[in-house]
Amino acid sequence: MNESQRRSLPSPGFLRCLTLAVCVGSITAAAADADPHYQRFLQARGEASWIGANAEHPLAVTPYRPIPALDSFPADPVKRDLGFDLFHDASLSRDGSTGCNTCHRGMLGATDGRTVAQGIGGALGKRNTPTVFNAAFNFRQFWDGRAVDLDAQSIAPITDPVEMGHDMDAVLTALRENPAYSARFEAVYPDGVTAANLGNAISQHTKDMTRTDSPFNAYLQGEQAALSEAALRGRERFEALGCVACHNGINLGGNSYQSMDLGRQFAESVTGAVQDEGLAGRTQRADDTAVFKVPQLHNVALTAPYYHDGSIPTLEEAVVTMARTQAGREPSASDVADIVAFLESLSSQFFARNASQMSAAEIQNSMRQQMPDAMQHQQHQQHQQHQQHQQEGTSPQPMHQHNPAHHGGQ
Ligand code: HEC
Ligand code: HEC
Repeated sequence: MNESQRRSLPSPGFLRCLTLAVCVGSITAAAADADPHYQRFLQARGEASWIGANAEHPLAVTPYRPIPALDSFPADPVKRDLGFDLFHDASLSRDGSTGCNTCHRGMLGATDGRTVAQGIGGALGKRNTPTVFNAAFNFRQFWDGRAVDLDAQSIAPITDPVEMGHDMDAVLTALRENPAYSARFEAVYPDGVTAANLGNAISQHTKDMTRTDSPFNAYLQGEQAALSEAALRGRERFEALGCVACHNGINLGGNSYQSMDLGRQFAESVTGAVQDEGLAGRTQRADDTAVFKVPQLHNVALTAPYYHDGSIPTLEEAVVTMARTQAGREPSASDVADIVAFLESLSSQFFARNASQMSAAEIQNSMRQQMPDAMQHQQHQQHQQHQQHQQEGTSPQPMHQHNPAHHGGQ
């Protein structure tokens, strides 16, 4: 990542304070000289810099970094489990219809497959739903980067009028009045149910939605045979055509804001959506019109349609459009096929192979099984319940049914 490729904000402290939730989360950050969230991203728990500092490391001269393992996020298992339930709880929305999982569905690469998101009462948003898989490695969240971290991001949809449309005070009151939830909050947060703790609990689950089981990740970790010939050629063309200038790092994106080479012209001619001012909506700078956070590319083959407005239906078309507008090149048919093969190698194999044949409950259960700590916690709970039920002569509930909200669809 070259510093000149990054578009910096004119006054980060002021901009962060445009939204209250984000402002509250970063009062200390505003005082710091450097943005600590960006510093944290750069460090990526030390792994990126460790590779960079070691000239002998096989990845030292590559623009990519392996996805850190799921267990690299230290988290209290109770918080993780609480976050899982909150993520799948539609009662956090005003009419009880919409949970985070309504729009971020595992089998659709943690998106919704729609052009733009559809929230409560069928209300349409203006942007395409990005994946939450590996979102933990984005330097900021949302297409315009308005949330500095996942804690701040996690509470935003709850009060967004077209997403979950609720009132934060009402949500907090309902959670406090719900004995099961309030006890779980109090067990891990000294101040119990607050907006900040709600965001923190949900973000524990979002971090758990890190997927490391892609062929490309295996390849980066030394498994040379993990990529097909076409994917290997595609990787070369991805670099030769300059895609890697913006799509690099752990997430092959998610670490800078970029305008299209042809900026507004791109937005008008290709997406027809110049009414979405992108970063300019936050910075009020004309230059930032049609500037967006570069999307990450992990699982991109599972997350059609594409771009901030969902205007591009297939991955092939996304590659062609990118090559034309970003690289000023007309890609050959073989370039497109190879780059698509490369992008397909960024898919979680679990979801690419199985998800379409699984029910929502099976997917949720398998997501839970990929959360080692929470799973142990659940097994422990289930074991206790099981013993209790045996004593009482009642039959045990399947684990994923202990909260009815889990059946709202993944
Ligand atoms: C109505 C559909 C909908 C619901 C419900 C919803 N989201 Fe989203 N999500 C979106 C859309 C659309 C965006 C992009 C919005 C933007 O950039 O302005 C998004 C963005 C995100 C991002 C940022 C990803 C990135 O790459 O920037 C995360 C993380 C996320 N959502 C998690 C959640 C969580 C957690 C919840 C529940 C509290 C939730 N979402 C509820 C549609 C939804
Ligand atoms: C100058 C920076 C830049 C370059 C170079 C670039 N991209 Fe992008 N890419 C972006 C931005 C910004 C977006 C989001 C565009 C939008 O939503 O309007 C994007 C979006 C995409 C998407 C859609 C992702 C999604 O989830 O919607 C794909 C796929 C993609 N790029 C692949 C490529 C390929 C392949 C190349 C090389 C031919 C390339 N990009 C070159 C900045 C870049």
